[in-house]
Amino acid sequence: MVKVGIVGAGRIGRVHITSIATRVPDARIKTVADPFITRETEEWAKTMGVEHTTKDYHEIINDPEISAVLICSSTDTHSQISLEAIRAGKHVFCEKPVDHDVKKIMEVVKALEGTKLKYQVGFNRRFDHNFEALQKTVAEGKIGKTEIIKITSRDPEPPSADYVKVSGGLFLDMTIHDFDMVRFLADCDAEEVYVQSANLVDPAIGEAGDVDTAIITLKMENGALAVIDNSRRAVYGYDQRAEVFGSMGMAAVSNDNQSTVQISNSEGITGEKPLFFFLERYMDAYGKEISEFIDAIVNDKETPLGIEDGLKPVLMGLAAQKSSQEHRPVRISEIMSEEGL
Ligand SMILES: NC(=O)c1ccc[n+]([C@@H]2O[C@H](COP(=O)([O-])OP(=O)(O)OC[C@H]3O[C@@H](n4cnc5c(N)ncnc54)[C@H](O)[C@@H]3O)[C@@H](O)[C@H]2O)c1
Repeated sequence: MVKVGIVGAGRIGRVHITSIATRVPDARIKTVADPFITRETEEWAKTMGVEHTTKDYHEIINDPEISAVLICSSTDTHSQISLEAIRAGKHVFCEKPVDHDVKKIMEVVKALEGTKLKYQVGFNRRFDHNFEALQKTVAEGKIGKTEIIKITSRDPEPPSADYVKVSGGLFLDMTIHDFDMVRFLADCDAEEVYVQSANLVDPAIGEAGDVDTAIITLKMENGALAVIDNSRRAVYGYDQRAEVFGSMGMAAVSNDNQSTVQISNSEGITGEKPLFFFLERYMDAYGKEISEFIDAIVNDKETPLGIEDGLKPVLMGLAAQKSSQEHRPVRISEIMSEEGL
């Protein structure tokens, strides 16, 4: 039985608490820590089998009985808490992104060196039944050599300007999932990134210094080209699709709907909108990623996504930021040499 501590009991913390409580028999949550934990969350946590709640995550770090820590707090705490957990000899599941600052991610890389600790980054979309099947299809060679990857990734509604200010911006907060997906589908890293971006959805996002609409083109190391289109507002719901085109054909996945009911009448043919947002669309994927993390600990296997998989999308995000600001293609090697890698 793996005893787990969860740092952060906000939206994603609650998702992971639910997954462990309901579908990961090899793990039990000993402690949940959050400085702003409410009475309601404490009561709810008890119903999920959580033994103890606290405002101070150091209780988790200093507890010898806890062998794995899930970091679900705000992004600016991830690398520091990762370091403390690793130094205390604990396995870590860290929500995305590990940090916006490459130097801080590299400190986590160094801390892991020479240890046998498991470290997994929360790129949950790899565990979505559609994207998983698409990747498998491509990896099995069913569409030949990959030439073009297309990802559509649009949120149903924009976040608040306050959120945008601390989010790290579109590329490090939202597109980072798509950067991971491109790497997953192409099975290699990106070489070069070129961005066209705009503030078309909410002027408050522009005033907060960010963009809300982007077309990102990438050249991958295996020669394939990729395109990601992002918007912070799709009025019909969370739009998460992907297509891979190759020398022998094409494979594509569509959105998940509540049902596949179609109504045909004299007005036309209509169906359900896509599931509303990430909590609806990816609940199963969140459960699978945590099951795999615990499985890696119990059976001493590699985690499906390591610290390198946390670093690479951040490099792509920084290249995208630069391309957006300077209106030019940016090579990943340029970002790496700036960061001393
Ligand atoms: N993988 C995904 O699909 C996904 C989805 C949403 C959020 N996230 C990531 O998860 C993280 C949290 O996002 P959220 O939407 O749950 O935010 P949230 O604001 O709902 O929750 C964050 C929680 O962390 C707590 N917190 C802050 N500092 C803390 C500390 N030092 N110790 C313990 N708790 C602390 C806050 O009080 C808050 O309750 C972010 O990094 C975000 O990027 C990932």
